[in-house]
Amino acid sequence: MRIFKSEEKLSPEYVPPRLPHRERELSLLETFFSSYIAGRPAVSVRVLIVGSVGTGKTALSKLFGRRLEESNNMARYIHINCRIHTTLSSILKKIVEALGAPIPARGLSPEELGARIMDLLERKRMLIVVGLDEFDGFLHADPRGVYTLMRLGEERTREARASVIAISRNAEILEEMDESVRGMFQAGVIYLEEYDHRQLSDIVEFRCSEAFHSGVMTEEAKGLVADMASERGDARYAVELLWRAGKYAENEGAARVTPEHVRKAAASIYPSIKREMLTYISRHEKLLLLAASRLLLSSGKSYISSTELYQAYRVVCEEFGSAAKAYTRFWEHMQRLEDLGLIRVKIGKGESRGRKSFVTLPGIPASIMVREVSALLESGEKE
Ligand SMILES: Nc1ncnc2c1ncn2[C@@H]1O[C@H](COP(=O)(O)OP(=O)(O)OP(=O)(O)O)[C@@H](O)[C@H]1O
Ligand SMILES: [Mg+2]
Repeated sequence: MRIFKSEEKLSPEYVPPRLPHRERELSLLETFFSSYIAGRPAVSVRVLIVGSVGTGKTALSKLFGRRLEESNNMARYIHINCRIHTTLSSILKKIVEALGAPIPARGLSPEELGARIMDLLERKRMLIVVGLDEFDGFLHADPRGVYTLMRLGEERTREARASVIAISRNAEILEEMDESVRGMFQAGVIYLEEYDHRQLSDIVEFRCSEAFHSGVMTEEAKGLVADMASERGDARYAVELLWRAGKYAENEGAARVTPEHVRKAAASIYPSIKREMLTYISRHEKLLLLAASRLLLSSGKSYISSTELYQAYRVVCEEFGSAAKAYTRFWEHMQRLEDLGLIRVKIGKGESRGRKSFVTLPGIPASIMVREVSALLESGEKE
């Protein structure tokens, strides 16, 4: 009995042809870029997409890019991960590579490289939209480079041939930008809210119809995936559960995917023993985790804001004789802890204005975390 119709449609790189419950955001993006789609770009467009883990930021931007290329054959969408490509020069090299342009990457300054790219676009009458995923990496490593890249499309007369979509999990990212850069984004921010249970049920239904033979995935199993994923509002978790549950069913030679396969899948994604992971994380990640656990415990709150956490982290650093890192580094540590499943970061409404990031511990008592991490920090070496 075969389980999967197209297993690859559950792989992390796959971008589905539609994104249920992101239709409005997709059409908003298309509105921002309407002059690009029509092939008459008058001004550069800069859009910022913000949302927490698994809210569809990457998928939305890539799907937009694909549709843009389909509707205008002179337009190219280039997706770049700024956790890997953190500087202007490395991003420009990626653009050259994606365009297959005959431009020597060596020996040119970023400014010269940028100018060559713009010459090429003008000559070929092409347009590019650069998707800067995990934008924080670039903003933190090369803030001047961000400004230069954003202005790239504007230095020429007439048409603006380069635009940018920046993507971040960080609700406070606008505040981290220089005034000049922030101003360029301000008109075009798209917030992706976490998916609720009903939305995740629809997403699960759709992704199952693409990936599994019909009738293989039981209704109970689908329901359980939606339940588990809606605790986090995270579609990535849903997709990963579907794939792993399917693999368990396949390996057992089962005819259908049942809730028990889903439970096995869940147990394999975040094993309950997180203790081991604690030994892998850096000293500052431990200090941060200790600060979060203590603050959650003492405040009695379910979530603490990232600014409160930063204060608490500085106090803990002082206690353990370490120099506290700057906020941007602190944010990177927070992302890593989130990727490891040790903390959860969620975007919510702040008290005064705008949105803020809030932190919690997923399913681990803060008291246990305090004990474990303190012990590791006390036995560990100083920096
Ligand atoms: N509306 C949706 N419909 C169908 N699948 C979706 C939808 N939203 C997200 N997904 C799927 O969920 C997974 C996670 O989405 P995506 O990678 O876009 O999240 P993200 O917001 O970029 O998360 P991160 O901050 O961790 O990078 C992907 O496999 C994506 O295809
Ligand atoms: Mg992403």
